[in-house]
Amino acid sequence: MKVLVIGDIVGNPGRKALKGYLDKNKNNYDFIIVNGENSAAGFGITGKLADEMLSWGVDVITGGNHIWDKKEIYEYLDRSDRILRPYNYPNGVPGFGYTIKKDKKGNKVAVISLQGRVFMTPIDCPFTKVNELIEEVRKECKIIIIDFHAEATSEKIALGKYLDGKATLVYGTHTHIQTADNKILSEGTGYITDIGMTGSDNGIIGMKSESIIPKFLTSLPQRFEIAEGNERVNGISVEIDEEVGECTRIDRINLSLLELGIFE
Ligand SMILES: [Fe+2]
Ligand SMILES: [Fe+2]
Repeated sequence: MKVLVIGDIVGNPGRKALKGYLDKNKNNYDFIIVNGENSAAGFGITGKLADEMLSWGVDVITGGNHIWDKKEIYEYLDRSDRILRPYNYPNGVPGFGYTIKKDKKGNKVAVISLQGRVFMTPIDCPFTKVNELIEEVRKECKIIIIDFHAEATSEKIALGKYLDGKATLVYGTHTHIQTADNKILSEGTGYITDIGMTGSDNGIIGMKSESIIPKFLTSLPQRFEIAEGNERVNGISVEIDEEVGECTRIDRINLSLLELGIFE
């Protein structure tokens, strides 16, 4: 089976790039996952935007630290497991941290949203929590895909190695910068430290430079604005042996809309 994963959609430029990419390519894939934590002008996601992305052929939207930014999404998170928040938040927070859905061929696919703790909010241990969850999920489903939303490369690589042979695919999100270390680990788990972001490449990780640089110069709070133009699609294209739940191929996608021939 073929799985498409697209990295953090940042605002309207990100949604435009996603739509353009899916219109051209979605029929090549059996299952599509998108990280949507920045789709509402960089901060969070709304029900309307989630519905829109799902209507374009996305199967599951994963989250991260920004999934909570728009309060209106809390009620949506509670009623739909097509959109996930990180699994290892404390008990009682809204929403679901994982889901099991069928791909186009009827294969069951588990998707887990997980968040790191290094340089991030101190939540429950992602390693222990995901290990326990995988034990349960494996009884029902061989294909297990994990979006590890984390800042530190070491924490991400550690989780990949820790889950080698237990998960089908472990990919990183959150830094918005794609890493070039896509590989298949020794026990058959597909891995990449970060799949990157989808949005404008004119600014700083999706935001206007003029709104970010003053933050570093002054240390004062700034109002961040979405960058525009020069949109890029970042993600991975993954092939999976569905009989054994192992990854057989993982390729990076890092293309401008011009390269994709989507816009003149
Ligand atoms: Fe993000
Ligand atoms: Fe994030």
